[in-house]
Amino acid sequence: MFVGQVIHDLPQAASTNAYAFSLLSKNKPPEGTVISTFNQTEGRGQIGSNWESEPGKNISLSILLYPEFLQIQHQFQLSQAISLAVRDFVAEHLGDGVTIKWPNDIYVNDRKIAGILLQNSLHNNHIRSTVAGIGVNVNQKTFLSNPPNPTSFFLETNREAELIPLVHSLCQCVEHRYLQLKSGKIFPLQQDYLRHLYRFGTKSLFKKPSGEIFTGIIKGIDETGRLRIARQEVEEVFNLKEISFL
Ligand code: BTN
Repeated sequence: MFVGQVIHDLPQAASTNAYAFSLLSKNKPPEGTVISTFNQTEGRGQIGSNWESEPGKNISLSILLYPEFLQIQHQFQLSQAISLAVRDFVAEHLGDGVTIKWPNDIYVNDRKIAGILLQNSLHNNHIRSTVAGIGVNVNQKTFLSNPPNPTSFFLETNREAELIPLVHSLCQCVEHRYLQLKSGKIFPLQQDYLRHLYRFGTKSLFKKPSGEIFTGIIKGIDETGRLRIARQEVEEVFNLKEISFL
């Protein structure tokens, strides 16, 4: 196993992603190096948001990967693989009802249990390195920031879970899906992603940044990772900031 073979267990870190970048700026740590802390004080979320995590309760880790085999226009495939890995991990422990909310939030029913922040460094037409940041709510019982409906392993099962074994199981899941991607098994990854996509194929309400609300059906993802939504008979594609679920 290469994911987690080298692991930096930090008693505290502002952000494991930021720490991973500082390691990368000094040398080239082995692929699969993990930076993990149970006390992340300034966790970063998507689109400049914060990631809340109560000290000692949750998993916050970043994995260093070198997917040099991936061309820039196929970056979404990596996002798909990591999302599936985190979904596999949560589903392994919680069972049914675990989905991926496009592009890479992990949901249990209608609540978010894990978030992913992928930061790629590019070189020519390829990805040079990726910091895959993963935050999973495990034993946290109350959250300060409610949207978007946080949940945790504890809130779903009413039991406390041990964090260290969970970190190992998460690393295994990431390794499995990453190797699937690396060996070119793109079609099964895409199929699995759609199979586990939140609200795929069901009528849902969406909101545009303009405030416009509409009913549509998620049809899939295009090659660049945009969300395809059908409104009546017409299909539209959306980037991350161009659409939200209601
Ligand atoms: C999101 O859903 O907004 C993404 C959250 C990503 C949080 C993780 S926790 C470990 C890693 N370090 C960070 O600062 N952020 C990611």
